[in-house]
Amino acid sequence: GISARVRDLIEKMTVEEKAGQVTLMAAAWAGGAATTLNPAGASSNFEGQLEETRKGRLGGVFNGNGATMAKRMQTAAVRESRLKVPLIFAADVIHGFRTVFPMPLAEAGSFDPDLARRTARAAAVEASAAGIDWNFAPMVDIARDQRWGRGIEGAGEDVLLGRLMAAARVRGFQGDRGLTADDAMAACAKHFAAYGAAESGLDYNSVDVSERTLRDIYFPPFEAAFAAGAATTMASFNELSGVPATANKWLLTDLLRREWNWGGLVVSDYTGDMELIDHGYAADEREAAKLAFLAGVDMSMQSGFYIRHLPDLVAKGEVPMTRLDEAAGRVLALKEKLGLFDDPFRRIDPRREKTRIRTKAHLALAREAAAKSIVLLKNDGDLLPLPRSGKRIALIGPFVQGQRELIGPWNVYGTDAEATDLLTGVRASVSDASLVTAVDGSGITEPLPGGIEAAVAAANAADVVVLAVGEAQNMSGEAQSRTDIVVPPAQMALAEAVAKTGKPIVVVLRHGRGLALHGAVLDAPAILAAWFLGSESGSATADILFGVQSPSARLPVSFPVESGQSPYYYAHKSTGRPNPGDKPEPYKAHFRETLNRARFPFGHGLTYGKIAYAGLEGRGTTLSAGGQIEVAATITNSGTREAEEVVQLYIRDVTASITRPVRQLKAFRKVRLAPGASQRVAFTLKRADLTFIGTDLKPIVEPGRFRVWIAPSAETEGVSGEFTLA
Ligand code: IFM
Repeated sequence: GISARVRDLIEKMTVEEKAGQVTLMAAAWAGGAATTLNPAGASSNFEGQLEETRKGRLGGVFNGNGATMAKRMQTAAVRESRLKVPLIFAADVIHGFRTVFPMPLAEAGSFDPDLARRTARAAAVEASAAGIDWNFAPMVDIARDQRWGRGIEGAGEDVLLGRLMAAARVRGFQGDRGLTADDAMAACAKHFAAYGAAESGLDYNSVDVSERTLRDIYFPPFEAAFAAGAATTMASFNELSGVPATANKWLLTDLLRREWNWGGLVVSDYTGDMELIDHGYAADEREAAKLAFLAGVDMSMQSGFYIRHLPDLVAKGEVPMTRLDEAAGRVLALKEKLGLFDDPFRRIDPRREKTRIRTKAHLALAREAAAKSIVLLKNDGDLLPLPRSGKRIALIGPFVQGQRELIGPWNVYGTDAEATDLLTGVRASVSDASLVTAVDGSGITEPLPGGIEAAVAAANAADVVVLAVGEAQNMSGEAQSRTDIVVPPAQMALAEAVAKTGKPIVVVLRHGRGLALHGAVLDAPAILAAWFLGSESGSATADILFGVQSPSARLPVSFPVESGQSPYYYAHKSTGRPNPGDKPEPYKAHFRETLNRARFPFGHGLTYGKIAYAGLEGRGTTLSAGGQIEVAATITNSGTREAEEVVQLYIRDVTASITRPVRQLKAFRKVRLAPGASQRVAFTLKRADLTFIGTDLKPIVEPGRFRVWIAPSAETEGVSGEFTLA
């Protein structure tokens, strides 16, 4: 129900003031693009926005910068507007504020939801001190096509990991003291829905997946985010089987409101309503506003369409006043929940802004999270960890030095200038920094004149090479889809030349997606998937290189063999002609160039220990209707170093009325094993873990045989067996 205060305000508001509440604009006082991007021609300057605020024609702004300016705007709202309704300040705080944490996809690789909760909490503490009430995060889109650049913002390809990370991030942003806390920000589970299912991985592209797939794969992380209390959601840019999400009444009203009974706020994406025209769904601005609003988009971001057209649409009876009351009521209710009516300045405090940002504790957390996000893909001959003394180390590649390419895409408030590069991290970790040299060797996409010669000379003069290659940070993120998910050719030429020196090479990858690795990069004895790691990028990478931390992350996305396998994900279906062996068989499902397997599968990641799986317990058991079974295995570290293993439980429903994936992750546990230690790791499986979306689009469970694996990745055998559901 709505509060008396909100009801009272709605009663007092003019239609225009209500339309103002459902209007959100990029802050005119933001840095960079947000000031100029104003396609629909609403006020783009600061004075203009102040004036709109005084007139009650603006509900909130986003991506503004700093408490001082927020204070001026909020003052105009609560002192100079007729009804004194506070503004709401939103922002994209995707992976940290000024302290930058690993890109969310990398952090998902920690398989540590509580870590994600903690970094989200720290981000909220910083952002809320700078005036931000509402965060356009977490992104909870399942992303199974590595060509899509926006995968960086989510948790990757898996539904279980996606659900757990979505809920953890919501809890982190919103905190556990209620949304009125001055360090809480409202979360926004985005982009609703199936934005990550864009055809061919092309950002913004059409989506045409079945309702079953939506319910089975793409919706569960949203359901988890809502169950964790996410206050808002954002309609996605894409169409869904012919109806753009922004105008999709089935999605935004029938499902969200009626079936799920969700009471939060739906905001459009940036000019999402305006884009209905380009989708070929609305004839003009007015119709676009009407379709989006009636479908269920409560608040319009950046087009200005609602403030321009809703008053007239209501006057002409094309939009019922009740719908406007409902949507404006949701904006007001959110402001109320955030405590803005009681103290509109609770998150606007220039003093707190100085003391809560980039604190020692946050930077330590950034280093911890970054180290826990690095995946050891390969470590032939135990090349890693490197000794901290006595070795000459050549750092080679366009990512080894300089205040660039560190924090990763889509960070509005952090800067590379405040992050540590690899050279700094490595020099601080070794006993004699003079033994460390650094050479770029190549640009990211273009060769550097004389670069390869300099790199080869540095490699020849060293005992070991750390080769940092990969993608620029603008090669992933919004609108950064790639057709070929490889290390760019200029850097491959560098890698081949350095490999010819015969020196041992540790590859440190910089990347925003799963990559198809080839040649000297793939052949290097050791490879770290080091993504974009944020403020403590260089120091955390050094922590792993020198064994201060043992690698403990696992791939949250598959690395296919070739780009052309895209979309490649482990939980695919079997086909009628699977090719289970290691050789291609005639007329079986494989490519001419490769089997349809991952090079490095989802869940893969090595440690500095030596891990073995044995003794599956629970095979041959029967799971009865209301019962449960225990499935366990013994994990041993026979190495000489401590290791943290992510023990993963997968199942396959062998026969079902709807075909099921070849494997699905159902549980995982991170266990720390001292050298020589063994641990029995047990999981409980219940009937509810075996449900899927049946022919009638409702969750069902069907009796029969289930295969089960406890394994170190989605495509290794580990230990496996079968059980039966009665
Ligand atoms: O929050 C984002 C969204 O994810 C993509 N378009 C712009 C929005 C606001 O910056």
